[in-house]
Amino acid sequence: METPTSPPNTSRSPEGEVHVPQNRSCISQLRILREIKILNHIKSHPNIITLLDIILPETYEKFVDVYIVNQFMEADLRDILETNQLVLADSHVQYFTYQLLLGIKHLHDADILHRDMKPENILVNSDCQIRICDFGLARGCDFDTINPNDEECPATTRLSTNYVQTRWYRAPELLLNSDRVGKAIDIWSIGCIMAEFLNHGQILFAGTSTQDQLCQIIQTMGTPRDDEMHGSKPGKDFVKRLEHVEPNPEWYLECFPGQNSINPRALDLLNKMLQFDYTKRITADQALQHDYFDSLRNLKTNHDVIGKFNHSFERSLMVTDKENLLLYGNKVKKMCFDTICKFNHHQYVDDTDSQSSQEDPTFKQSSAQGSSIKRKKSVLSRVKNLFKNKKV
Ligand SMILES: Nc1ncnc2c1ncn2[C@@H]1O[C@H](COP(=O)(O)OP(=O)(O)OP(=O)(O)O)[C@@H](O)[C@H]1O
Ligand SMILES: [Mg+2]
Repeated sequence: METPTSPPNTSRSPEGEVHVPQNRSCISQLRILREIKILNHIKSHPNIITLLDIILPETYEKFVDVYIVNQFMEADLRDILETNQLVLADSHVQYFTYQLLLGIKHLHDADILHRDMKPENILVNSDCQIRICDFGLARGCDFDTINPNDEECPATTRLSTNYVQTRWYRAPELLLNSDRVGKAIDIWSIGCIMAEFLNHGQILFAGTSTQDQLCQIIQTMGTPRDDEMHGSKPGKDFVKRLEHVEPNPEWYLECFPGQNSINPRALDLLNKMLQFDYTKRITADQALQHDYFDSLRNLKTNHDVIGKFNHSFERSLMVTDKENLLLYGNKVKKMCFDTICKFNHHQYVDDTDSQSSQEDPTFKQSSAQGSSIKRKKSVLSRVKNLFKNKKV
């Protein structure tokens, strides 16, 4: 983790109360903090990457890097989709999409938006198991009412500057600069990914800019009515200035030319996930009930139910007019350090149960430094085991 060293670069929030550092290292720091907090909250789900360990820094002063240990996965979906001549059987499309929806439902149940669902952030093993990764852009849901295209302001409640959820998977309400975004944005992204499964890895809407992305969607689906558009006035005005395209409610039947073999139930689900108007888009829960998944319904998913994610830590990082970027960086660093220590403390209790009872627990609980060597050894042995168990 880099501590910001550059001079303060701040701007006022609309309320004039909060200073907003806009600096790359701050943004990366916040992404790391978010990632470990969210992964720690999720604990374990078969379709989400698990946080196995975070290496404990020796001391706060020496804390400059964060090492997160996850399961090793053999590939990401982009690797699979880029394989030449890819033809996925209907059973693959079903199984992949179903797992994506199970993973996203788990997040949505905890009021977490992933916000960056794309093939690169979906890991896959040769047994076709899927795990969602990369929670750097993920957020709790009551950030819903915030303009997603504002600058990333770690110190305020606005969403990111570099909130560049990859354009091709971005929902219309994001493209239109809506100040209300919710769980439906992840469903749109999964719809785009499913379309790639169905179409030999071809990207459904590969826009070259935000405007072009919108144009491509509209060319395919038709111009939305006013009440189907959710976005800022300039966003909506942009759409109104475009040449009118007659709505094509059956666009999804024409989208995959020459592929008559596509399961009609798959297309029906795709259409329900890719509704321009997010209020009409299917939810993860509803999608899992879709008859496309009838044959998978009894699939056992062994995971604990988790509570809502508390993201109030983001608010506590706010800095005021009088404070600056350096202070903000230090706050994030301290919170990261504390989170890692807390994670390791829980691990420590497990270790004590299974290992030595001779060491002095008070020393280890009170000193991060004291337990770091033991932690590193434990991580290394776990990593070795992971590699040993990895199917090739
Ligand atoms: N547990 C894992 N096992 C195997 N590969 C992984 C794992 N985690 C991540 N990867 C690979 O590393 C890539 C980047 O990881 P991730 O998406 O978590 O980080 P990122 O912030 O997007 O990084 P980058 O800026 O490099 O894209 C993934 O697209 C995937 O190919
Ligand atoms: Mg990524």
